[in-house]
Amino acid sequence: MSNRIKLDLERTLGGLDPNVFGGFAEHLGRCIYGGIYEPGSPHADENGLRKDVLEALKRLKMPNMRYPGGNFVSGYRWRDGVGPKEERPARMELAWFDVEPNTFGTNEFIDFCRVLGTEPYLAVNCGDGDMREARDWLEYCNGTKDTALVKLRKSHGYDAPHNVKYWGVGNEVDGPWQIGFKTPDEYARAYTEYAKVMKWTDPSIKLFASAVSLWRRDWVERAQLLLEQAGNLIDYMALHWYMGNDAVRGYRDDDFASYMAASEILDDRLSSYEGLIRALRLENKLQNPVYIAVDEWNVWYRTHNEEKLEEIYNLEDALMTGLQLNAFIRHASSVKFANIAQIVNVIAPILTRADAMVLQTIFYPFEVYSRTAGDTALDVHWSGDTFSTPEHAALRFLDVSATLDSQAKKVSVYVVNRSLDREIESSVELAEGRFAGGGRAFVINGADIKTINTFDAPDGVTTREDTLQAKGASATYTFEPHSVTALVFDLA
Ligand code: AHR
Repeated sequence: MSNRIKLDLERTLGGLDPNVFGGFAEHLGRCIYGGIYEPGSPHADENGLRKDVLEALKRLKMPNMRYPGGNFVSGYRWRDGVGPKEERPARMELAWFDVEPNTFGTNEFIDFCRVLGTEPYLAVNCGDGDMREARDWLEYCNGTKDTALVKLRKSHGYDAPHNVKYWGVGNEVDGPWQIGFKTPDEYARAYTEYAKVMKWTDPSIKLFASAVSLWRRDWVERAQLLLEQAGNLIDYMALHWYMGNDAVRGYRDDDFASYMAASEILDDRLSSYEGLIRALRLENKLQNPVYIAVDEWNVWYRTHNEEKLEEIYNLEDALMTGLQLNAFIRHASSVKFANIAQIVNVIAPILTRADAMVLQTIFYPFEVYSRTAGDTALDVHWSGDTFSTPEHAALRFLDVSATLDSQAKKVSVYVVNRSLDREIESSVELAEGRFAGGGRAFVINGADIKTINTFDAPDGVTTREDTLQAKGASATYTFEPHSVTALVFDLA
């Protein structure tokens, strides 16, 4: 069968929001302490931020950064993390059963964001916290009036408001593992009241409701209650997921084809959630847009708290990163925000040791997508060779998405070749317009799907960059087995 990828530059899905390339840093294991912040390290700057990690993160071009959790936030007191460090209390924290020293807090995080060039996205405690604490934190960060909280911020050395635009109300409130787990009704009520006072405190903020992380029960009811009771106070419905090559998070244990078939779960979740929001906006006559934020996503299935979630990623996980990013691009009309969980050490693209750093396999697709994606998602049509699993028949080997950058006159085509052993040649055809002749191909691959990057052998999986030749209305490209490829074509 011939493989064809057809692009119509006028057939768009709408804007691709760069915020889908966001990150997430939680007080968990070595993400903050020993990851982004390690005073005394030879790699640290004068504020204790690790310069090697900052440089690697800059390559990922993340427009926003979620903080401080995660499960951690459901027991967090933001006041513990501001003011003179020697006065900050160490606390027992019950999300990850660790001692939190609080030497890194709100202002250190904002400083980190400013150095990195990313917008902070703070989650408030809707676990064992209350709405007073949440709105106080917002006032501390964004307030401009002559109030005690603004004076407090100024006394900590920050005269200008932090202007934090993105705020999440709680984390994974649907999970029994959460401190302060809430039933659908309890959370809808709590969200409404938190959101009301937070928007009164600063009407310019954007709010995220914790919608679903456990995809097994009550997520439809949760959406229904939230949009019924607080629809006009919700900017984003926050979804979480973690994929894995196992029967718990996917279809089967250690089965490559089944793992790669997870594209179907991703599409099912996003399509059904889009439909749900659409139905509930109609039913509740909501005028405001309500978008999807997948504010935790990644591969996570091997490690637990004992290993501090220091997952070691292989090539097939890098393909899974490509599948997830393709899903966001194909659902760009509704998915306007997403956060890879997390950024350093904890289920992360970057791993550190005291003396060194390694870029994991999943670093590379994220970097290529975030640096090459255009501002508009295309409704790409493709056909070709297929594979089947016990659960799915006739899935296309190639998983494809595409974007357009009309200013720069470039079209980017993202392809995950899910075949273990087959090169797949495909045409890339333009319905109208012409390729200008040149372009670049970025290929992420390694010797086999289990290849990992280690401190001793850091280049098992990396990105190879080639030039492209493409003139006229059609080009041909051969996609390597088990690879992620971005083709960035110049348009005439
Ligand atoms: O990212 C790790 C954890 O995964 C987060 O703390 C939690 O929100 C999710 O269960």
